[in-house]
Amino acid sequence: MRLSRRLSTALAIALVLSLSLGSLAGKRQAVGQTGVLRLDGQVWQTAPGAVIRHTVTISSSLAVSEAVKVWAEAGSWPVEVPATVVVTPRQKATFVATTHVPFGATDDAAQALTVTVRSAVAGSRSIGLVASSRGRFVGGRYVGCRFDFEADGVIDVTDVAPLAERFNAAVGEDRFDAACDLDHSGRIGAADVQAVAGAVGGACATLPTADSTALRAAIEEAALRRHLEALEAIARAEGGHRAATSRGHERSAEYVADQLTMAGYEVTIDRFTVSSWEVLSPSVLRRLAPTERAYTDEFSTFLYSGSGEVTATLQAVDLMLPPGPEINSTTSGCEKADFAGFTAGSIALIQRGGCDMPTKVANAAAAGAAAVLMFNEGQPERQGLFSGVARRENALPVLATTFAVGEELARLVSEGPVVMYMRTATGVVERPTLNVVAERPIGDSQQVILLGAHLDSVTAGPGINDNGSGVAAVLEIALQMARLGVTTANRVRFAFWSAEEIGLLGSQHYVNSLSRAQRDAIRLVLNFDMLGSPNYVRFVYDGTSISRTLGGDPLPLEIQAAFTDYLARLGLAVEAMNMGGGSDHATFVAAGIPAGGLFTGTSTAKTAAQAAVHGGEAGAPMDPCYHRACDTTANIHWGVLQLFTETAAHVTLAYAQDVRGVLARPNGAPAISHAWPFAERGGLKWW
Ligand code: BES
Ligand code: ZN
Repeated sequence: MRLSRRLSTALAIALVLSLSLGSLAGKRQAVGQTGVLRLDGQVWQTAPGAVIRHTVTISSSLAVSEAVKVWAEAGSWPVEVPATVVVTPRQKATFVATTHVPFGATDDAAQALTVTVRSAVAGSRSIGLVASSRGRFVGGRYVGCRFDFEADGVIDVTDVAPLAERFNAAVGEDRFDAACDLDHSGRIGAADVQAVAGAVGGACATLPTADSTALRAAIEEAALRRHLEALEAIARAEGGHRAATSRGHERSAEYVADQLTMAGYEVTIDRFTVSSWEVLSPSVLRRLAPTERAYTDEFSTFLYSGSGEVTATLQAVDLMLPPGPEINSTTSGCEKADFAGFTAGSIALIQRGGCDMPTKVANAAAAGAAAVLMFNEGQPERQGLFSGVARRENALPVLATTFAVGEELARLVSEGPVVMYMRTATGVVERPTLNVVAERPIGDSQQVILLGAHLDSVTAGPGINDNGSGVAAVLEIALQMARLGVTTANRVRFAFWSAEEIGLLGSQHYVNSLSRAQRDAIRLVLNFDMLGSPNYVRFVYDGTSISRTLGGDPLPLEIQAAFTDYLARLGLAVEAMNMGGGSDHATFVAAGIPAGGLFTGTSTAKTAAQAAVHGGEAGAPMDPCYHRACDTTANIHWGVLQLFTETAAHVTLAYAQDVRGVLARPNGAPAISHAWPFAERGGLKWW
């Protein structure tokens, strides 16, 4: 009886997680607010597209199990919860409230996450909420524009008044122009600037968008495949790689340039030279005493070995023979003291291991060695030839050899004088290479969206994921835009950089060659490097880290959001990645040009958390063939390459049509003069 009465009355329990928005509360928020949300010690980034998962715990002291109904809301932010949760007597039940931080959130929507649990059991006082979740937003950066001077996320009179003042000061009364007096009050005041800032603010409040359906539909996997097969065939024919200054790279550039030319692009071949350390003629290693022996393929030249011709006695330096069972159990030449009895002018016989090779070479040079012969350490995995590295400033000849050769020489040295002949000829040569840059004469040449991908590989392999994949994406977007006759308000430029793998040299050459005006015309750079990693993670360049480098410019945040937003609409989560200086975006960021991009991962192992979101294999490298000979077309995940090419196409088109969101970058001219009447009169510099 009592139970049925209980069943007839509903019980509502509301948990309000009071998420104070601080100064934002009650005001209109700029769209795309980012910040940090803390709930019960958990921290979430609240950038647009972020997903907040909050675990709510409930318990019941009822004697019966029941399914309670659950509702949740966070203003207009969508929250997902299970429709019902089963509560078992004396046990805690948990469920997850998932909130998607939306793009386009306005007002004070998400001040509170409210979770409501209703029990169908009548009269119960005994379903209690165990969790007492408290949360609040910290921070409050937003993806918006610079007109928000007090950085509260709202463009209002406080923000525009300084603009009005500066404007009035700049033009003076005598240059008053009624056309600027938008409220027709007879003076240019805050209300006028508000009107303009409002228009701009409105633009800032919307991420760039475009109908990219036709362009995306035109991008076919088969075409991406054709480009990568062409690059792979070039590498195969040219010694296995497409590294800067090689024939493989030259032919890759020809391929890209031909495709673009045939599609109607104006293609610029920009030649420049890079300094390259090289072995100029084969090195020589010979034993002259106690017996003669000429070595052939048992030695190699250290990277950055100096040049020289030396005939001298060989002297052993703190060798350990046999070596310990573990690698690096020896320390030959690691300490200056190892050279205590060393006779200047001798050749140092050093065993690999225990410290880095340049240190050993530097110690030998300091002790007056005429040359260095370093042999492998001797454990099973350290028997054969190895690639040695010296320092450029140690100008003596340095050769590497096998453990067997070293061990024999050490024995001979212990028996009597051993005389060796060593010769190396190395040097730095200037080698020509080229960037390929293409555009169509469509759109405002002062508003350039620059898409880039590096075209060079490392010498270890053909570089199909790194970075044939980015090249194929950028190339195919260019080809299809031309084929479809896409017209854009802004200029889209496509660049294929050389010499990225040896220090971002191609993009650096390009930036160095630009005039100030040409550099300022580049509104933003989209960089694509590695888009097809087989065990991929969908990485988007982290705009926060890039903004920090730029000194707080919010644009990279917006570029990040543009990518994230597109993928979020497809229901695909992304991970923000601090890209550091590892690819060509860094060149542009350093030059003050906002940059963003996509990336699918190198040899780093995928975490379990990443596998849960992106699929694939936890614990395995995202790209097992990164910088290796196996980076072929067999090393491509075609699905993610197709997806990211389409994503890149969409964001390119969006910015190509509308860079209002990037209007306010420092030192830049306003992007849309028609919405910016002040700029047309005298080019005021406000930033
Ligand atoms: N594609 C790689 C790695 C990469 C991709 C880094 C995207 C950052 C963003 C790139 O070509 C590479 O190997 N970079 C070098 C540094 C470069 C300056 C020589 C690296 O990361 O070690
Ligand atoms: Zn790369």
